[in-house]
Amino acid sequence: MALTCSLASVATDLLVVGVAPDALETTLDSLPDAFRAALIEAAEADSFRGKVGSTASYATFGQITAPRLLLVGIGDGSTASLRRAAGQAGYAARARGAEKVALAVPSADATSADALWESFWEGNYRFDKYKAEDARKAPTSQLEVLLDAEPSQVSQAVRIGQDLARDLVSEPAAVIYPESLADVATGIAGLDVDVWDMERLQAAGMGGIVAVGQGSSRPPCLIHMVWKPEGTPRRRIALVGKGVTFDAGGLSIKPTAGMLTMRCDMAGSAAVIGAMRAIADLQPDVEVHGIIGAAENMLGGNAFKLGDVLSMYNGKTVEVHNTDAEGRLCLADCLALASELEVDAVVDVATLTGACVVALGTDYSGLFTRDDAFASTLQGHANDGGEQLWRLPLPDAYKDLLKAEWGTIKNLGGRYAGASTAALFLSEFVDGPTWAHIDIVGPSFHDKTHQHWAAGGTGVMVSTLTRWAIS
Ligand code: BES
Ligand code: MN
Ligand code: ZN
Repeated sequence: MALTCSLASVATDLLVVGVAPDALETTLDSLPDAFRAALIEAAEADSFRGKVGSTASYATFGQITAPRLLLVGIGDGSTASLRRAAGQAGYAARARGAEKVALAVPSADATSADALWESFWEGNYRFDKYKAEDARKAPTSQLEVLLDAEPSQVSQAVRIGQDLARDLVSEPAAVIYPESLADVATGIAGLDVDVWDMERLQAAGMGGIVAVGQGSSRPPCLIHMVWKPEGTPRRRIALVGKGVTFDAGGLSIKPTAGMLTMRCDMAGSAAVIGAMRAIADLQPDVEVHGIIGAAENMLGGNAFKLGDVLSMYNGKTVEVHNTDAEGRLCLADCLALASELEVDAVVDVATLTGACVVALGTDYSGLFTRDDAFASTLQGHANDGGEQLWRLPLPDAYKDLLKAEWGTIKNLGGRYAGASTAALFLSEFVDGPTWAHIDIVGPSFHDKTHQHWAAGGTGVMVSTLTRWAIS
């Protein structure tokens, strides 16, 4: 596992060297002997063994051109491990305020160069605009991956879309509310964007979005973005996002601890906006609709109530048993609209259920679809994009749990299988297109640094959705 470049002469602020377990000697081959021996001793003393994502940082005291060297473990050297290593490197570079960074990783090829590049920037990101000036660290401005490969256009577009999504999720709800979210979408060059206001939502019979949004002084809206290629599109698809800019739970109010981070409840819509931003850059010959149901779930005097029966866009009626099961109500109207557009396939993305993070933890999104081929297609794109989708069941038998007394269906299942019953609820509003639902509660937001993800939004699914859309 030797490196192809000479480490001693790289002109950079921070030289990052990927190291596999027990490969320190060979990897550092190109360093001056005495310095190399000292480094190996220091790394041993620090118990650095090349375990994936582990790091050790050393000053180089003029022994090589770069003033600081960061060893980062690459474990088994798989693409997933390289991503974790590059992410940690990006994170550490930002923590040090290193402006110029060079990344040297043994036996990485062009595909892993993209993965390294993407993950480095994931780790280098911070949401620190509200911190005091002296508590902020400059982002890296120049990254050299010592592989002679430029990052692909897809990687570059995904990075921009993902950073946008992260900013949107991390911003307080006082800054990002339905109308300001719509302004962000409208500001993306190359897309046609149509914003449905409260009046139009009411007139169109979008009873779900209207009900969820009516208890707030910030009115709800539906955001419809379109990327239209020149000529006849090869296929037509829709991306649907839950855009609850703050989820207080409505009259079924959340306790304080559960409410604290509920500005993240628009992460699905942020993923859609980020992906649409990337798609506008990449200009595929595919027609892509981005549809967002944006609302604040609050407790104002006009808030929707338990026992209300809502008329949805597709004509079905929903009995409200819990106003905190609001995301499915917003998504239902959007999915009905996507069905009306007669797209070939639709994927919705949402911070939908606590049950999903209980089942899968923070590192996996839940994938629900009746179409096995579509499931593996999406899982393939997720894998390429460094994201993790785990399939969960969508059993028809559980539909009984949503049986209503007065309406077509109720918005609450039983105590069990909460992520699946939420997905089954959504399935009632899809008519025609191939459909998948992705529950992102786990990976969409971290309240503290998690692996190479700084606290805040992660932009999860921008990578997967973009890769799927252009495929
Ligand atoms: N926005 C929440 C889901 C959520 C939970 C997002 C934790 C981020 C972190 C969603 O609207 C919700 O409240 N879901 C309820 C559904 C229940 C009332 C059926 C839940 O999961 O408890
Ligand atoms: Mn809720
Ligand atoms: Zn919610």
